[in-house]
Amino acid sequence: MLGKNPSRSAKERILVVDDEGNAREALRDILTEEGYEVVEAGDGEEALLLMQSFAPAAVLADVRMPRMDGLTLLLRARELGSDAVFVMMTAFASVEAAVEAMRAGAENYLVKPLDVNAVLVVLEKALEKLRLQRDTQNLRERVRERYRFHNIVGDAPELQAVYEVVKRAAPTRATVLILGESGTGKELIAQALHEESPRRDRPFIKVNCAALSETLLESELFGHEKGSFTGAIGRKEGRFELADGGTLFLDEIGDISPALQVKLLRVLQQKEFERVGGVSTLKVDVRLVAATNRDLAAEVKGGKFREDLYYRLNVVAVTLPPLRNRKGDIPALVSHFVEKYGKAYGKEIRGLAPGTLNALLAHDWPGNVREIENVMERAVVLAKGPELNSDDLPPTLRGPRPRERSPGALIPGATLYEIEREAILRTLEMVGGSTSRAAEILGISVRKIQYRLKEYANGGGNGGEEAAEESTGSG
Ligand SMILES: Nc1ncnc2c1ncn2[C@@H]1O[C@H](COP(=O)(O)OP(=O)(O)OP(=O)(O)O)[C@@H](O)[C@H]1O
Ligand SMILES: [Mg+2]
Repeated sequence: MLGKNPSRSAKERILVVDDEGNAREALRDILTEEGYEVVEAGDGEEALLLMQSFAPAAVLADVRMPRMDGLTLLLRARELGSDAVFVMMTAFASVEAAVEAMRAGAENYLVKPLDVNAVLVVLEKALEKLRLQRDTQNLRERVRERYRFHNIVGDAPELQAVYEVVKRAAPTRATVLILGESGTGKELIAQALHEESPRRDRPFIKVNCAALSETLLESELFGHEKGSFTGAIGRKEGRFELADGGTLFLDEIGDISPALQVKLLRVLQQKEFERVGGVSTLKVDVRLVAATNRDLAAEVKGGKFREDLYYRLNVVAVTLPPLRNRKGDIPALVSHFVEKYGKAYGKEIRGLAPGTLNALLAHDWPGNVREIENVMERAVVLAKGPELNSDDLPPTLRGPRPRERSPGALIPGATLYEIEREAILRTLEMVGGSTSRAAEILGISVRKIQYRLKEYANGGGNGGEEAAEESTGSG
């Protein structure tokens, strides 16, 4: 006899479906005694109705019942999205029907008359499977969530801090200044701010302040009246007007002229402006997001950027980390871009050849994510087979790096650290850089993989033991 399961925190819910009242009641008593929460139904139709409010974890269902039989109940329950495990109950004469139900997805079956022990064992096994399924599902969702904040790939603590600020600042009207080197994803963050905000259904308008001359930029931002300057043929609405109710993203804000800085300051302070050559004052409701790869604070000190405007823009500041400081994200980015460009070019890339990931980890990525995106696109285009290899990388990344990789991590012969490193890199290569898949295969956490990758990228990490091995290793 099984004891009450102490590891079950909440009572698990069981639905017992049988047209024989006595059989139902007997089961109910046994299961209740075992600590389950039990509800009964007299046929499939009644069960289906109950399932929607009761949401059982397991269903013990008779195969033959009036109105709706057990198999139909199972199929209908699945259609309604239930993931409950099904255990069919059947008289010996209709075992075939129970087997059919298993083909349709039932977990197991019991032959009547029921043996109490068998019921409990089979039920507990079925529930265990469900728990596992749900855990895996949750894990997958958590992994997906962690890697997908508005299509922004990366899990490094510095990035997570950025996501946090974005989530907190997005619902407000506060102006956000996004800083970071070129290619770190400033534009993606600006979009995420808009998408996370209540303005998401209103326009997101972008202006690249570095791309236009002062005159053109002014009319681009504020619009102009007919004939206000040479070339102003008709009247034109500016980006501030177009963004009304939404978000205006001023990219490369560090590049605007002193005169425009004054005009921008006024809009920020008074929320009003005039079109170029216009007399009437326009009012708009715009949320401003600005970005630059310049060191704006230094520009302020150097007198090139107005301090008052800087403080107006810098209500909330977000700084994106350069890729070289978060190398643990490299495999996830590689996997993301391989998938993206694999689809775009109709190529199925399944993995990376040994050593390829090491080369990618060793590079310093001055062009940040944009650079790795370009490198991976190029590699996908050049790839001759289903594996990317270092020949598909630009020459600057290739180079033989004999010491980067312990030669084969011999067993016995290599340290446990080396063997682990080999296992992690090989697995990551096999799955095209997907840290979540590698973690699943290796049975370790994504965190641990990323932690190790950082060590490898920084040239070894753990212990002089390994460093000594590497320096004497054949290579
Ligand atoms: N974390 C990321 N995950 C996925 N893609 C990214 C990520 N960061 C950047 N990218 C991609 O890299 C490219 C460059 O990003 P983005 O244009 O946002 O950079 P930026 O910081 O604005 O650069 P610049 O200062 O040069 O304008 C884009 O194609 C973008 O989609
Ligand atoms: Mg940009």
